[in-house]
Amino acid sequence: MVGPKGIASALWPRTGSRASITLLVRRSSPLTTSLPTRCWRAAYSSDAAASPSTATTSPKTVEINGKKYTTDSWFNVSSTVLALTSRKLHLQKDHPVAITRKIIESVFPAPTYKYYNEFDPVVSTHENFDSLGFPPDHPGRARSDTYYINKDTLLRTHTSAHEAELFRARASGGYLLSADVYRRDEVDRSHYPVFHQVEGARVWDRTKVPGGNIAAAVRADLDRLPTHNMKVEDPNPPFHAERNPLQAPHHSPDEAAAIAAHLKRSLELMVNEIFSRAKAAVAASKPTEETQETEPLRVRWVEAYFPFTSPSWELEVFYQGDWLEVLGCGVTKQELHINAGSLSQLGWTFGIGLERIAMLLFQIPDIRLFWSRDERFLAQFRGVEDNLQKLRPFVPFSRHPACYKDVSFWLGGVSAAGGGKGGAVDWHGNDLMEVVRDVAGDCVEDVRLVDEFMHPKTGRRSMCYRINYRSLERTLTNGETNEMHERVMKGLVERLGVEIR
Ligand code: DAH
Repeated sequence: MVGPKGIASALWPRTGSRASITLLVRRSSPLTTSLPTRCWRAAYSSDAAASPSTATTSPKTVEINGKKYTTDSWFNVSSTVLALTSRKLHLQKDHPVAITRKIIESVFPAPTYKYYNEFDPVVSTHENFDSLGFPPDHPGRARSDTYYINKDTLLRTHTSAHEAELFRARASGGYLLSADVYRRDEVDRSHYPVFHQVEGARVWDRTKVPGGNIAAAVRADLDRLPTHNMKVEDPNPPFHAERNPLQAPHHSPDEAAAIAAHLKRSLELMVNEIFSRAKAAVAASKPTEETQETEPLRVRWVEAYFPFTSPSWELEVFYQGDWLEVLGCGVTKQELHINAGSLSQLGWTFGIGLERIAMLLFQIPDIRLFWSRDERFLAQFRGVEDNLQKLRPFVPFSRHPACYKDVSFWLGGVSAAGGGKGGAVDWHGNDLMEVVRDVAGDCVEDVRLVDEFMHPKTGRRSMCYRINYRSLERTLTNGETNEMHERVMKGLVERLGVEIR
């Protein structure tokens, strides 16, 4: 995905989280296990009744991981998302997200790579966007997409937010950073407002390599990496003047090519490790069948665009008949090193979403499961972190019935294209998703827009969304589904100003 579309949709819908393959996450259940209902559900309070993007009654301060932050009119984080900031699934022993992190770390050994897993999710807009070269009008900055504490402070949308800080620290030749990241998004089996990423970087210093010859030093390091037997498609040159440029004058063609080669081999080894383990787990779970697929894994490199790398790529893996995008990466923009006061450093970075990978690795069908405290889920992974040979595909517990309910409404104002009276509609589907998540939490499997039209005379816009109420853990009663749906409709009216049809 190259060009402008790449910025908005490859980066934003992006890597390891949202786009095509993706993951899902759902929130945790703060209810104790002794309560009859295990669907998480936030109390809907009139306190939260303002639109998520135009909140007027937000709390003055919020506390996140022990620190207090002052909010302002930009605040748009629901209490349920705030509650998830303390979960840190990537650090929970034997959680599939943590196991996946560990497998990735095993491919990037210390002491070359240093591991950081405890960085706070609250960062500045400077760290999350400006320090990485995001333009001021980048769609990822919108309040419809990002959770803001106040105008200058947000819940990080990606682990790249810490690149500048780690480059400044110059603590090692490379690092891996794992953390929870936050994005306002759709509700379905592969999207959740919180998920986890691993960010990785490798850095070389011109003043520290023999003869100052970076390309030779990088190639020597490449020669020391293991090889693999995956089938790799890499049809493009290491850089391309228009599509994927070299950073002249900072890097010579030889340097950029060497760094790209080291980057690609390192990430191929990572993907090989993950998918070989996934294959082995499947084989081990079917001991009687003829298993042992002999076909090698297939991966391919696709040119990409990120504001903080050039050239850039995505890596795709051929898995169960489809090409899956698993990560984004590239040669680090030299401005990041320069701004960090490290003029002589250069190297590569990558970012990968953990849930998407964990879903493939463990065959987990719904992202909400990661947040479950249900023993039927958690017990299946006990002991795996210390002995990866025990890794097996997840065995789903029974699938409970779906219950579809539609909600149709008129938007509050008229469409900008409609020409009627009243304010133009500023509608973002993600605001509706937030209301649904707040009211019904993990009892909703997905929400889809099924119809949309504009009244030819009044210019008003009508929408119809279909909500699928289905718990992962039990059968919902008609009564409680109806009650939740009522509350969703009430929330839409109160928070988004719609008129139910
Ligand atoms: N931060 C990007 C995202 O969330 C992923 C990414 C792409 C990270 C390229 C990187 C990179 O470090 O080099 O979509």
